[in-house]
Amino acid sequence: MKLLNALFRSPTARPALVASAALLVSATLQAATPAAPAFKADIARGQQLAAACMACHTADGTRGAPANPILQGQHPEYIVKQLAEFKSGKRRNAIMQGLAAGLSEEDMKHIAAFYASKPAPKGFAGNKDTVALGEAIWRGGIKAKGVPACAACHGPAGSGIPAQYPRIAGQHAAYTEAQMNAFRLGERANNAQMMTIAGKMNEREIKAVSDFAAGLR
Ligand code: HEC
Ligand code: HEC
Repeated sequence: MKLLNALFRSPTARPALVASAALLVSATLQAATPAAPAFKADIARGQQLAAACMACHTADGTRGAPANPILQGQHPEYIVKQLAEFKSGKRRNAIMQGLAAGLSEEDMKHIAAFYASKPAPKGFAGNKDTVALGEAIWRGGIKAKGVPACAACHGPAGSGIPAQYPRIAGQHAAYTEAQMNAFRLGERANNAQMMTIAGKMNEREIKAVSDFAAGLR
């Protein structure tokens, strides 16, 4: 106290003391104000980053070659999950693992926002002979085998349920079929539900439901 009084009385010490008190106040204020604003996905940034993807997924994620999934209109959380799992190796694919390796979590969110901002694809079923079987499985599953209805999780119209269940409607039938077989054989092992479901189905059932889903809208 004696020291403080002495300081306040001393004409030379006072300005320094006032300055350090001001510093203290401003430091307290800074700590109270919120840090960086919450992350916001940037569609324009996503489009720039997606230039690296267009050779296979087209410029805006629409219908390209059947082996390459359509990304337009897909739920952004699902896209981010897949990119993160390609990067970590949880979902195995040599091409996509290499591409995802260079993306940060923020990059993935920008890219996902870009594709999700595009209208969902309108597809078509290609095989009349299997539509009835495909529709029955989509809407009702296969009771005798304990296969649940796809519609229960992916929606009656196949548009998925954000954020967990991806859109399947309008996807290339060949891609859907390949993923179902990959789940069935354990080659795609990043989702236990789908591995169990596909594991109870045969190739004919998978082909039929994949073709039916391609035509859903
Ligand atoms: C050389 C071709 C090629 C390039 C370039 C490419 N992809 Fe892919 N992508 C594929 C293939 C093939 C698959 C399907 C992989 C599989 O069978 O599991 C795929 C799958 C995906 C999936 C999973 C979709 C789903 O429905 O599950 C996402 C998301 C994706 N790619 C995003 C990207 C992004 C983002 C880029 C650019 C940074 C990119 N891809 C570049 C070929 C490519
Ligand atoms: C209990 C819920 C549930 C049911 C029922 C279900 N799915 Fe799925 N499905 C999922 C989830 C969750 C994913 C996302 C997996 C991931 O995150 O990688 C998925 C992913 C998929 C994918 C991969 C999509 C892509 O873009 O790569 C296909 C194809 C698919 N499901 C088809 C079907 C079909 C066909 C049926 C009916 C026979 C079906 N699902 C029933 C939950 C379900």
